[in-house]
Amino acid sequence: MNKVVHVGLLGFGTVGGGVVQIFQNNAAMMARKTGAELHIKKILVRDLKKPRAVHCDAALTTDPADILNDPEIQIVVELLGGEEPAHSLMLAALQNGKHVVTANKDVIARHGRELFAAAEQQGVNLLFEASVGGGIPIIRPLKRCLAANRITEVMGIVNGTTNYMLDKMTTDGVDFATVLAEAQAKGYAEADPTADVGGWDAARKIAILASIAFGTRVSLEDVSVEGITRIEPEDIDYGRELDYVVKLLAIAQENEKGVNARVHPAFIHKSHPLAAVRDVFNAIFVRGDAVGDTMFYGRGAGALPTASAVCADVMEAARDICFHSSSHILCTCYEEKRIFSIAETESPYYIRLLAEDRPGVMAAIAGAFGSQQVSLNSVIQKRRVGNRAEIVLITYKVNDADLQLAVQTLAGLSVVNKVSTVIRVVGDDAE
Ligand code: NAP
Ligand code: HSE
Repeated sequence: MNKVVHVGLLGFGTVGGGVVQIFQNNAAMMARKTGAELHIKKILVRDLKKPRAVHCDAALTTDPADILNDPEIQIVVELLGGEEPAHSLMLAALQNGKHVVTANKDVIARHGRELFAAAEQQGVNLLFEASVGGGIPIIRPLKRCLAANRITEVMGIVNGTTNYMLDKMTTDGVDFATVLAEAQAKGYAEADPTADVGGWDAARKIAILASIAFGTRVSLEDVSVEGITRIEPEDIDYGRELDYVVKLLAIAQENEKGVNARVHPAFIHKSHPLAAVRDVFNAIFVRGDAVGDTMFYGRGAGALPTASAVCADVMEAARDICFHSSSHILCTCYEEKRIFSIAETESPYYIRLLAEDRPGVMAAIAGAFGSQQVSLNSVIQKRRVGNRAEIVLITYKVNDADLQLAVQTLAGLSVVNKVSTVIRVVGDDAE
């Protein structure tokens, strides 16, 4: 084999190190599968003197032009993270006719349209399998293997940090602050955990998945986002009694109203496949009109799992280069569909509140729901807290806007001291 495809890496951190390791460990096999020897020629870093966990013979540089203007480098792999300069460098690479591979959900979710246009114009690949679900194959399955399906739902656990935290809260009964500190100590949660616990990391990922699944552009601004900061151990315990498990779900649906994408904590029945996703694992559940239900499961982060997806993308681009083919599917947003808001979605709800413990209180609470046409499935008085009663209610399937009005009415009742938590119930069994 005498063909060599030269690759430039932008970034030599966690994932960059994983990519170098896989190139070193599996070089011969990757070459056989690709039709060319893959060679990392240069790597962009911020600090040339920083000790590296993985050794690489490639030249390190702090000047992006060394890679972007090198005519020998045909594939640029962006692993810097964040929006800038990653976005500008990817655009420049595409405009220079280089294939681009990235793991960057921030850039794809925000600048996908512009980057795809540049790739299309130059006839090169823009591949981003690692941007959602780390090592789990999901972008290519949606774009290719499930292409003949009309997808109606994509629902996933796409953030490992929050899944680890909720799982720990469920199994060990610890509170949010304690488990966050533990996740940070283990290196799962970032020093600034806002994007994970606030649901923003998952929101970027579901914007990408929804755009592909439904063939319409869904941007980050279209996604309604609620994180896990308000989940308390009591809710997890009460959920368990009702056979529910709490998960941070990223959900995208298409129905007669259009397309909706959202991230929020939800109770799912313990028999649902997503309920069994533990620890830092991710899983994405896809429903198609022909295939039915499918689920993709695995490690959503980490050096080697994420690099596994990055390397496969590099191999795909290299194959196109070697065989002068253009197997790539670029932007799959073929139409503009209506995006509908979370207020128009429907589900059953779990509500926990504190109210005065005296006759007539339940009737007043039921009246607040009745005034907004919200039907109650069950009402359970759980325990006394001082001279108050903690009450848990489960509604039947209800429109989100009506539910929010009912909760406002409830909060305004003199007998209600506090509406502590409102959690959606998701999954077929709940409907
Ligand atoms: P990381 O460990 O922070 O590494 C970033 C690398 O980029 C470092 O080598 C850094 O250089 C370099 N860099 C950053 N800004 C630069 C700049 N302005 N100029 C030159 N070099 C710069 O990040 P990572 O965890 O590998 O993540 C990379 C990408 O993969 C991100 O988009 C992330 O969202 C995505 N991703 C990561 C994971 C994961 O498990 N980590 C999972 C899925 C997706 P120095 O080394 O010199 O500081
Ligand atoms: N911070 C993400 C997570 C990994 O916890 O799943 C990178 O996408």
